[in-house]
This record gives sequence, structure tokens and C-alpha cells, in this order.
Amino acid sequence: MFETLQPAPPDKILALIGLYRADPRPNKVDLGVGVYRDGAGRTPVLRAVREAEKRLWQSQDTKTYLGLSGDIAFNAAMIDLVFGKDADTSRIRAAQAPGGSGALRLVAELLQRSRPGVTVWTSDPTWPNHLPIMRGAGLATRDYPYFDEATGKVRFDAMVETLKGAAAGDVVLLHGCCHNPTGANLDAAQWQMLADLLAERKLLPFVDLAYQGFGDGLEADAQGLRILAANVPEMVVAASCSKNFAVYRDRVGAAMLMARDSAQADIAASNMLAAARALYSMPPDHGAAAVRIVLEDPALRADWEAELDEMRLRMLRLRREFADALRRISNSDRFDFIAEHRGMFSRLGLTGSQVERLRDEHAVYMVGDSRINVAGLPENGLEELARTIVSVLD
Ligand code: LMR
Repeated sequence: MFETLQPAPPDKILALIGLYRADPRPNKVDLGVGVYRDGAGRTPVLRAVREAEKRLWQSQDTKTYLGLSGDIAFNAAMIDLVFGKDADTSRIRAAQAPGGSGALRLVAELLQRSRPGVTVWTSDPTWPNHLPIMRGAGLATRDYPYFDEATGKVRFDAMVETLKGAAAGDVVLLHGCCHNPTGANLDAAQWQMLADLLAERKLLPFVDLAYQGFGDGLEADAQGLRILAANVPEMVVAASCSKNFAVYRDRVGAAMLMARDSAQADIAASNMLAAARALYSMPPDHGAAAVRIVLEDPALRADWEAELDEMRLRMLRLRREFADALRRISNSDRFDFIAEHRGMFSRLGLTGSQVERLRDEHAVYMVGDSRINVAGLPENGLEELARTIVSVLD
């Protein structure tokens, strides 16, 4: 059987975890995988999540199956969190999924059942795992221009021009906030123009919302998605709780759809659940139950929001301080975009060999496309890191 196989190439982001761990150099810096870290380099369990887990442990008296859609109250709370309290939920449905990736795959399966082989347009660049997830479900992929390396801004006009060439019924995958890997995001006016274009051209928005609360705040980070929801008849969403609840390994996410009316929403949701049954049957419960307890309890929710805000503001401050340090040391405004970007990532615009030199000669780890995780920046070593980065520039 297996003699026909060639080794699968390692995932470029996840491979960095092992390389970094194996590096004995004491001054090593991890700007790789997208996991939040505090000033001491830890990724703590959030206070509200820990309390919710305690309550769960004390009150849970069975672990029998919940059903294909997982925790129904979690799904309802996620619809509120993502679409907002005032959304018309009569035509929105959600299914709990194993993390953001599981939600992406579940939505992709729904698209494949609706329109086999439909084209999903992805941003260039995008999170590398988007492509295998879409293709794994049988969908075709094409890309639209997104990022201007020279200015660090979104190439909005080029993006719109390309999407004008998409066929009616095609799907457009968008990062709801905190674009991964670039950190460059659309503003409200651009979201509105995009919503008008998608509605006019009959293109289906597919929003990946993996960092809600990491950019400008919980509500602000959902603004683009909500502009779309107010302007298009149908859309799909994959939401992740990995980052904003720091429940990475518990695999908590939600696949959502908004249909033309309630009856179509029910039919689409039943197809999504049938796809889940064939993929993994039912999602894991523990993390989603903890998230649901946090979202339903006003005191826990307030504490979660406060801790999430602390994380967000720390990343913003690091962005400003690192951009300042790079400006001083490089004597240029080349890296000023880092302070303008939002979320966990920015792409520095270094070559592959510069990224390699940083790793091999200086123990500074970042993804091969020069994406850095802002939360991994060393609180007391920004100046030194800036000097190291500038030293490998040509
Ligand atoms: C990242 O982009 O680093 C994270 O989303 C982790 C992952 O699974 O790639």
C-alpha cells in the first residue's frame, strides 16, 4: 500500500514550531506560528475560560453525544458575536466545528454540495492552508491581487478589477479582519464598495473570521462582515475561537451560513450537518462549552473582553514601538506600515535568503515569506531585534 507514497512536505508554518524548540541558543526569538504570547512569552489559559472550565467540570454529569451541530447555545452565542445583536437571525444558521480550519472545510463541503467544483477566489497572498482546505473539498481556486509589497497597503483597485472578471456564482474568500499574513485590511468604505460589487455580480462572500478582537476590537473587527451581511442575499462564514479565547488545542470554531430565507437556511444547514457526519460526525465539546459559558455569563464575558482587550492593546503598542525602532535604526520609513497594520501579523518584505540568515545566524524565526507574529516581539529587545533585521538588508 504505502510504497507508492512520497513524503509529504512539512507545513511551512507548523514546521517552525519544531525548529524553534530544537534551537539551543538562549537569545532565540519566535515570530513564527500565530499563537498569542504575553510579555513573558507565555500563552496563558484566559481567566474567564479557566473559570468556565471549572464550572463545567463541577456541573457536567454526562458526556453523551450532543448531536451533529454540537452545542446549540454555543452556536447561537457565536451568531450574536459575529453578526451582532441586531442581526436578522431567522435566515442565519451555525454549526459548531473543530476549530477555524474545521469550519472552513465544513463550509467548503457545503459549497461543493451546492455547486460542485465552484471557484473560490482567495487573496494573494492568503493563509497557506486556505488552498488545501478548499481543494480538498473539490473546489477550484483562483486568486485576486491584495497586497502591495512596496507600500504595505491593500491593492484595492486591482482587487476590484480582478473580481469584476469572476463568474456569477463564484465564491470570494475574505479575511474578516487582521489579514493573515499581511496585516493590511480594508476600511469601512472599501467593505461597502466590495459588498456592492459582490451583490451586483452575484458573487458569494465567504468570510474567514479567525482574529475577531485582535485588531480594533470585537465590534470593529466584525464591521466588514456586517456590512456584507446587510448588502448581500447570501453569505458563508468560518469563525475561529482559537485566538480570541486562546483555546487553540481544544479546536473551537463555527461554520455559518446566511441564506435568502429561513426555509433555504434550514436546507443548507442540513447539508452542512450531513457533510459533518461524513467528515468527523460530531465536533469536540469541551472548548465550545467553555466558550458558551463565558459568552452567556455577563461577569465572565466582561472579564474575557477585558483580557482580550489587554492582548490587543499590547500588540498595538508593540507594533508602534517596533516600527519606531526600525525607523531609527534603518533611518527610513520603510517599515512604518507595521504601526498601521492590525492583528497578529505583518509581512516585513524580506527575501527568502534574508529570512534564512535571520534564522541561521541570529536565531530569529519568522515564516519564509517574512511574516512576523507581533505578539512574539521581545518586550525588552525591540531595539536589538531591529538592528539584527536591518543588518541583513542589502
Ligand atoms: C497561523 O497562521 O500561524 C495560525 O493560523 C496557525 C496555523 O494553523 O497556521
